[in-house]
Amino acid sequence: MHDIIDQLEAKRGAARLGGGARRIDAQHAKGKLTARERLELLLDEGTFEEWDMFVEHRCADFGMADHRIPGDGVVTGYGMINGRLVFVFSQDFTVFGGALSEAHAEKICKVMDQAMKVGAPVIGLNDSGGARIQEGVASLGGYAEVFQRNVMASGVIPQISLIMGPCAGGAVYSPAMTDFIFMVRDSSYMFVTGPEVVKTVTHEEVSAEQLGGAHTHTTHSGVADLAFDNDVEALLMLRRFFNYLPLNNRDGTPLRPNGDAPDRDDFSLDTLVPDNPNKAYDIKEAIVKVVDDGDFFELQSDYAQNIVVGFGRMAGRSVGIVANNPQVLAGCLDIKSAIKGARFVRFCDAFGIPLITFVDVPGFMPGTAQEYGGIIKHGAKLLYAYAECTVPKVTVITRKAYGGAYDVMSSKHLRGDVNFAWPNAEIAVMGAKGAVEIIFRDDKGDPAKLGRREAEYKARFANPFVAGARGYIDDVIQPHETRRRICRSLAMLQHKKLDNPWRKHGNIPL
Ligand code: HXC
Repeated sequence: MHDIIDQLEAKRGAARLGGGARRIDAQHAKGKLTARERLELLLDEGTFEEWDMFVEHRCADFGMADHRIPGDGVVTGYGMINGRLVFVFSQDFTVFGGALSEAHAEKICKVMDQAMKVGAPVIGLNDSGGARIQEGVASLGGYAEVFQRNVMASGVIPQISLIMGPCAGGAVYSPAMTDFIFMVRDSSYMFVTGPEVVKTVTHEEVSAEQLGGAHTHTTHSGVADLAFDNDVEALLMLRRFFNYLPLNNRDGTPLRPNGDAPDRDDFSLDTLVPDNPNKAYDIKEAIVKVVDDGDFFELQSDYAQNIVVGFGRMAGRSVGIVANNPQVLAGCLDIKSAIKGARFVRFCDAFGIPLITFVDVPGFMPGTAQEYGGIIKHGAKLLYAYAECTVPKVTVITRKAYGGAYDVMSSKHLRGDVNFAWPNAEIAVMGAKGAVEIIFRDDKGDPAKLGRREAEYKARFANPFVAGARGYIDDVIQPHETRRRICRSLAMLQHKKLDNPWRKHGNIPL
């Protein structure tokens, strides 16, 4: 018996030591924590239940038979974040560079399968050199097993990837199919082919950081949602982020009671929108003043900034917020912002999180760059997402709602449940100047006449009452009462039931 216990302890010790003290020191020297240290920070103290500590690879090629480390480069199991269940895997770069073997993949698949059975999110901490080169196709098979599970879990349980080291080759496609990707600045990178291959094929010289670092993916590609300065910050922010999410698609939004009264007025909102309709203002100020305790968790804050997306709470419950941002491209919708918005709307819809949409949109972005890039198809993604969505939808038009973009942004016609407008809202086909230049083309040579026409058009259409007269707007509200009116609407909508017709799946314009 003693022998077995000694063996057990020896194996546990070996697993905990991973690739050994030298490699752990190297990991620390790069400013990175080890796989286990990361889990300690991510999970509530003492809650981690580790699985498969004794799993080893089965490869005998290239001297691998004599080189086995219990756990095989990934620490897996489950634990709690603020008392809520989560399944985790954390790749151990000190063991074969965190490279994915068949056994390593099986460990990940096991926690994913269990997470699906019990309805709890999966968080992956990625730090890996990709496919375990010594294993060849067995490793590729392992990846595909993970990919398949990512897809089956999509829309059933939240999946979050935190990239904390290399993530290269086909390995990027598992994170790509998860709901959110976070990265760590200066120590993580993601690319399909690395700098060497890029140089050979395209003759471009580019560093790993430029090609796939956190800055690249949070500003240029939009692959990652947010970047953090180091492992500790990333893990602590991930804990905060987790609090907004339901455990699964049937769980309902989590309730986190707080002291912020649902009927709180904020009179500073009455002067937020400038009198000059061409002047920008900060829509995030409105968001922060409306949500509980001013706590807004913005996603993709450096990408497609003409639309703002993120989570907040209203009366303690999570809500998804989408807002046009008049400070960037005047809030126009373009390809990137439509895709960004659509993906967020679909996440919220899949997981039953109500949506609040703040609208100030002068239309879709004109120009060849947008048309050649396929704005028709990509813009339609946002339209499709809102139209398909069945969660409670509350819309507040803070200023402009012009043209097709009016329709898209959670309008009444796309089954918006409660649609409010602030008194200065302009809901029209287009701005007055553009409109009169088209319909009164003959008056072009007479600026005074055209000016009168413009004033006339403005008086007729640049207000919320034309839409209000048709019931497209449920009420025109004072900005200061926005929080109260949204909270009441969400309370009314709490048991909303709306189903789309049966189908295998729709065909969103991809
Ligand atoms: C086996 C690997 C490995 C791998 C790294 N190691 N990558 N072992 N398979 N893929 C081992 C190294 O031999 C080394 O072992 C240890 O991990 C640390 O690696 P270093 O190179 O010393 O670390 P570093 O300098 O930080 O460089 C990290 C790295 C580099 C950039 C990730 O190791 C690298 O380029 N690795 C190969 C990446 C790659 O080509 N992967 C396959 C991609 S194709 P020792 O014993 O010395 O500590 C792919 C296809 C997937 O993934 C397709 C899915 C559909």
